[in-house]
Amino acid sequence: MSNVDYSEKIPNNVDLANDRTLQRALEHWQPRFLEWWREMGPNDFASVDVYLRTAVGVDAQGWAHYGTVKMPDYRWGIFLADPVANRTIGFGDSFGQPVWQQVPGEFRSQFRRLIVTQGDTEPASVEQQHRLGHTCPSLYDLRNLFQINVEEGRHLWAMVYILHAYFGRDGREEAEELLARHSGDIDKPRILGTFNEPIEDWLSFFCFCYFTDRDGKFQLKSLAESSFDPLARTCRFMLTEEAHHMFVGETGLGRIVRRTLEVMKEIGSDDPEAIRRQGAVDLPLLQRYLNFWFSSSLDLFGSEVSSNAASTFANGIKGRPDETTQYQDHVCADSTFEIEVPDGKGGVTKDTSPMRNAMNEVLRDAYIRDCEIGLKRWNIQIKRGGYKLELKLPSSRFRRAIGAWANVPTDLDGRPIDREELDRRMPGWLPSASDKAFVKSLMQRVVEPGKMAAWIAPPDRGINNLPVDYEYVRLN
Ligand SMILES: [Fe+2]
Ligand SMILES: [Fe+2]
Repeated sequence: MSNVDYSEKIPNNVDLANDRTLQRALEHWQPRFLEWWREMGPNDFASVDVYLRTAVGVDAQGWAHYGTVKMPDYRWGIFLADPVANRTIGFGDSFGQPVWQQVPGEFRSQFRRLIVTQGDTEPASVEQQHRLGHTCPSLYDLRNLFQINVEEGRHLWAMVYILHAYFGRDGREEAEELLARHSGDIDKPRILGTFNEPIEDWLSFFCFCYFTDRDGKFQLKSLAESSFDPLARTCRFMLTEEAHHMFVGETGLGRIVRRTLEVMKEIGSDDPEAIRRQGAVDLPLLQRYLNFWFSSSLDLFGSEVSSNAASTFANGIKGRPDETTQYQDHVCADSTFEIEVPDGKGGVTKDTSPMRNAMNEVLRDAYIRDCEIGLKRWNIQIKRGGYKLELKLPSSRFRRAIGAWANVPTDLDGRPIDREELDRRMPGWLPSASDKAFVKSLMQRVVEPGKMAAWIAPPDRGINNLPVDYEYVRLN
């Protein structure tokens, strides 16, 4: 079961050859996907050779094969993690019963909406990153960008497979729509806000991988708990690919910090202007980018209190990340969760919500803790360099557009402030026009093997035990 069949038109480990109707439907979708990739993907690089990994199995160990591929020839396919024998439902009202191999009719539209929303983010990110290749800071980074792009394309396949295989005609229509919406499109935008934000520079790209892909990790982890077993298995395998995307974000930002500290040491100053004159990113600027992408990504979890979250949990559709290992009470019928909400008088008050209704917040809290890890690491580097500055995540109340804190003016610490103060101080908290212009000026492409742009340190090691100066992308 776990071996992938590459002799098929669509590589898969789901025995597609034995389901002619499904196979035909997906083979019909395949050229549309390729057309979308040509139009919206990194197509200026269609003819270059890229050192990419491809899935050859679904075991945690050794699932990937590395080799040189032209991106349009990448073997996008359908890979589900192996089934767990006698798996039972891990949470909600049907706790302990056998998992479902088909979607129960009464939950069909809830499932469909979740799968479509997840599926929509995958091609969206490819569209957002569409032109980044032209300004890569190194061949190593260029290869990582392309690896992420092809894998997000594969994640789209993962969701389209579920739609086609389990949602009949509706599913096929949704699969078409996934290629019809586009990031930032006025008429047909992507479903979630963050996925319509342009990513025009590599600092934003690394922030996106660090914060937004991490939201993806948490969503996938909670869908990997789902009672609908094919969805759970699909998401479990997606998570193994996703880990690399977060690695790119974390090491990318870490390498920027390291380079900035080197420059600060060289010039003996932490003056932002002096650092910028050396072509590096000053830390206050980095902080403003963190503020932007973190606050934007927090909204992806939805409202603090949500009847929708309660019902997807109760119905066994979407659990909590690591449901089995992290929690004792998997039913949460009577437990409660305390949340902080605005008191309407410029202050903060505590509110108690039934636990099930607060599942978005439970997820968001876990996500925030995960986001802290990288910052701690970078702050240790900064401290070792002898500087007092600390990078910090803003409060989860800051700059929210969804939920209890939507459009409530607060400072970075989440302290409610009046609108006039917000307007006055916000430019210092988010990337300014001149920050963006400066970052843009840094985006000069560096494509000599092993060489790095002046604003980023080299990685500690190369890909798959190859040296850092390996020619990961052959441009001609
Ligand atoms: Fe993804
Ligand atoms: Fe990703």
